[in-house]
Amino acid sequence: MPERRRAIRRSSRRPSPGRGSRGNRPARSPWLGARWDEPTQNERLRTAYEAGLIDYVEVNYPLMPGGSPDVSPTAPILVHCPINPIASVHGFNRALARQVRAAAIEHGSPWIGEHLCWAGPGPEGRLGYIVNPLFCDAVRDAAIENARALTAFYGRPIALELAPVYDSTGTFDSEVHFLASVARAADTHVIFDLAHWTASNRNLRRPADFGLDVLEPERIVELHLAGIRSGRSGRFWHDSHGDVPEEELLELTAHLARRLPRLAAVTFEHAEDAPEADFMRTLERLRRVLG
Ligand SMILES: [Fe+2]
Repeated sequence: MPERRRAIRRSSRRPSPGRGSRGNRPARSPWLGARWDEPTQNERLRTAYEAGLIDYVEVNYPLMPGGSPDVSPTAPILVHCPINPIASVHGFNRALARQVRAAAIEHGSPWIGEHLCWAGPGPEGRLGYIVNPLFCDAVRDAAIENARALTAFYGRPIALELAPVYDSTGTFDSEVHFLASVARAADTHVIFDLAHWTASNRNLRRPADFGLDVLEPERIVELHLAGIRSGRSGRFWHDSHGDVPEEELLELTAHLARRLPRLAAVTFEHAEDAPEADFMRTLERLRRVLG
């Protein structure tokens, strides 16, 4: 393992937004991590962690029955929840949130990732996919109230993330403007998912850099990075954890790591059935570009 990575692990247990920042530039590289979705990923994530390629693991909670991460007793865990109905009038799901809060306490997660999605009021919440809300004032007001209540319930910051967008709905200029408005009013962190954002820009035929200047830079504590693919029709793009990130997104990650003052974590999302060599090579590349 490289000496530098050993030193990072000894001196700092988990990512921390803003710690040591200088002016509007981050003082150090963000931590690099990988998404854990399935127990079948334990081995490759353990290999990456022990090789110094990742500093933490990001896990979706609540865990599926029978599946819990077993990467390393020393690997920090960032807690993420993609199925709470943040952007709906149902309010957040308390039964789900109790499980997520317990995980965040257990692992000392510095923030909890939450999708700015619409979801059902049932025990599971998910509607088969991460469904976007109508981007309008009424839903924004509900999302602000939910985000504030959930932050108080968790007792720690939440970081809001958008799903890919396939259509223009509502009255906001875009979903990015909607996110910026909710994050500012509810005073939350933001997870900027570069794959979701790029797919949305292509789906809505917007310029490749559309929205980059809309989010407040100091709110972005984490980037998500994955591949994207076009659907069978060729018309729509989706994020794809079976593919590696496009070159432009790797370059943009390096650019953002230098520019975002509170960026603390970059999470690579890669499926358990995708080639392990792709996973390792991408992490090695990210280590190089993040410095
Ligand atoms: Fe994501």
